Amino acid sequence: MARVDGLDDVVTLQRSRHRSSIAWSSAWQSAAQRFWSDASPGEHFSTSAGDLLADRLAGIVRGVDARLGSPEDFVVIDLGAADGALVSLVRDRCGELGDRARWIAVDVRDRFVDGIEGVVAEIPGDLPAVPIRGVVMAHEWLDEIPLDIVERDAVGIDRLVLVDEGGEESLGPSIDDDAACAQWGVDAAAVRAWISRWWPLREVGDRAEVGLPRDAAWTWMTSLLTSGLALAVDYGHERDQRVDDLRRGTLAGYRAGRVLAPVPDGSAGLTAHVAIDSCRAAVPGTTLTRQRDEFALAHLPEAANADAIERYFATRRLRQSAGLGSFAWLRWEAP
Ligand SMILES: C[S@@+](CC[C@H](N)C(=O)[O-])C[C@H]1O[C@@H](n2cnc3c(N)ncnc32)[C@H](O)[C@@H]1O
Repeated sequence: MARVDGLDDVVTLQRSRHRSSIAWSSAWQSAAQRFWSDASPGEHFSTSAGDLLADRLAGIVRGVDARLGSPEDFVVIDLGAADGALVSLVRDRCGELGDRARWIAVDVRDRFVDGIEGVVAEIPGDLPAVPIRGVVMAHEWLDEIPLDIVERDAVGIDRLVLVDEGGEESLGPSIDDDAACAQWGVDAAAVRAWISRWWPLREVGDRAEVGLPRDAAWTWMTSLLTSGLALAVDYGHERDQRVDDLRRGTLAGYRAGRVLAPVPDGSAGLTAHVAIDSCRAAVPGTTLTRQRDEFALAHLPEAANADAIERYFATRRLRQSAGLGSFAWLRWEAP
């Protein structure tokens, strides 16, 4: 066999350089476990969870209940629910159904508001009480699911991005090298197939955030239903946006309401927007709407009172085209 002089040294050097680096999905996973073990979500971010969203969700939940004939065993599960405040607001708006149904909040954190059944679990994973008849929802959870990142290097090879605990990145194996990627816990064939369909790289430095785990999470959500509705609401992008505008990706950290560099040391939450078209394709029958279409903006009469004015501006905020208005609403209905 031909031998390249010095190759062993190069390999050893690369290994030692990467010793403390791991694939992004693994780094993110352990960083998230550390971050959420003592963080209280309210300290770090505000989502659009609130009265208007709860009104809209309650309307949807009541509609599903009516379609299923108001069964005794109706269940609502909120995944990545933080302390369950949102699902509790929804229950409060559901009248008789609020008492009849089971209302479950699932999160890795173990503090839940009163009146909601809290389940501490790392998901996707085993849950009690499933599959259910009812509604499975997730508001701003999919974007927190760890994923891998691939970057095109200086000579045009697409490589797995590795990262150390300080956030220092290095380029790992080519994604054409199945065996080398497997050593970092990555299924290179699946990554190649996903990238070529959903986020092709074109130029040096282009990066793709590989949405496979979010596709799997959405598939898992729909598997929790015997009948009813799965609903995920999140920041999303589609292929055209990724290829044209998001060529460096969307990965970011956040802490105390501020956006930070993504450092997987557990001191910040990590997030990357969701490849919503690939989630949609993962489960046939999934539909996609944008948040701006979920909230009607009523005309504000001249003599409107303070409540109506507040509601009007809150609705406008949820519909803003450059911000919350473009949130993706993924739905899948089980018969
Ligand atoms: C951005 S917060 C959203 C909270 C709430 N749904 C809302 O909209 O206000 C994400 C939540 O997902 C939870 N979470 C993240 N990864 C999780 C996992 N793998 N399993 C369970 N919960 C998770 C976090 O603890 C956090 O409470």
